[in-house]
Amino acid sequence: MVTVNPVVSKLAAYPAEALYAKRAALRAAGLEVFDFSVGDPIEPTDEGIVAAFREGVPPVSQYPTIRGEADHRAAICEWIGRRFDGTTVDPDRELLPTRGSKEAIFHLPLTFLDPHGPRRKVLYGVPGYPVYERGTRFAGGEVWPVELRPETGYRLEPWELPGDEIAKTAILWINYPHNPTAAGVDLAYLERVHAFCREREILLCADECYVDMYFEEPKPPSVLELSSREGLLAFHSLSKRSGMTGYRSGFVAGDAELIARLGKTRPNFGVATTVMVQRAGSWAWRDEAHAEARRQAFRAKRDTFMRFFAEVGLEHTPCTSTLYLWVRTPEDRDALGYAEALADKGILVSPAPFHGVEQPYVRVALVPSLADCERAIELWRAFHRA
Ligand SMILES: Cc1ncc(COP(=O)(O)O)c(C=O)c1O
Repeated sequence: MVTVNPVVSKLAAYPAEALYAKRAALRAAGLEVFDFSVGDPIEPTDEGIVAAFREGVPPVSQYPTIRGEADHRAAICEWIGRRFDGTTVDPDRELLPTRGSKEAIFHLPLTFLDPHGPRRKVLYGVPGYPVYERGTRFAGGEVWPVELRPETGYRLEPWELPGDEIAKTAILWINYPHNPTAAGVDLAYLERVHAFCREREILLCADECYVDMYFEEPKPPSVLELSSREGLLAFHSLSKRSGMTGYRSGFVAGDAELIARLGKTRPNFGVATTVMVQRAGSWAWRDEAHAEARRQAFRAKRDTFMRFFAEVGLEHTPCTSTLYLWVRTPEDRDALGYAEALADKGILVSPAPFHGVEQPYVRVALVPSLADCERAIELWRAFHRA
């Protein structure tokens, strides 16, 4: 037998895998499936993005660099300035392009975690995106998932946690607007978490990939707007804003010293963004029209579902951004059981345990078209009336 990394043997299946299997089984059984389980939207990519990609294909395609093209970094900085009230980021010192945010999140502890040091914990909220945990384990760190609760608006509040555990913490992840609950925070909260981390020399990592998927004012804030960037990094992506999940394009920005360290380690991972993807990405960061059109499309789906949930008396957490609705099961029914029962009708949602908690909630990702949302709602309504 060849050797296997013990982290691999201990890994639970990636939750989406179970959903893909369920979807395939339902389709094989001849059922029409409305898939609200995975956050990978289907709206066509804007023609401007596709054209920029095509035109970006060079006659000879050589290795891209981890720092990317100056114009790509400039396009990102222009967006940051427009989106966050004139916030400035130095394109040469405070920013690196990434291949979407997943790889950047996964690889982060390989740079900022000492697996043999006294501070090996990585703190993150659950329910949440599974990659904070995965990246920590592969880097030899210790995971510290903290359950986020509806009563506290799904905010991670590190000041409420035991001080001796905090003293062993190297990295803290926050993710607002939040997947899966759509919870949001304000700048005062971000300032407070940052101050907490700075005092304790904890690296604050803010996964902000849904920051441009907002439906209402005020728009979600970014840690890049805080009074200081010391000890913090923000992770952004074109996947949700511009519907570019397949292109793999994003960036990490923040404390110049931390970015310099990433600039040294990241070439090892083979994650430089290809030139054509950078060109498509630059076009996307500079264009607001397509992002606004996407917000409108998702707002329409959100509103349709919110009307339906109000009609049948299903509660959900407020959804002013992201592409998710976090819906409480009727009479706090077991989330897995409720999701199974809906799946039998052809409606796939992802239950809270798939996001790391045993709460009576399911996540509805607003992925199918508006027409399909309406058809699925018909089935869901009939199921509730039965
Ligand atoms: C909270 C969160 N972070 C990061 C990602 C990764 O996005 P990408 O790698 O496509 O930029 C996702 C994707 O669903 C997400 O939900």
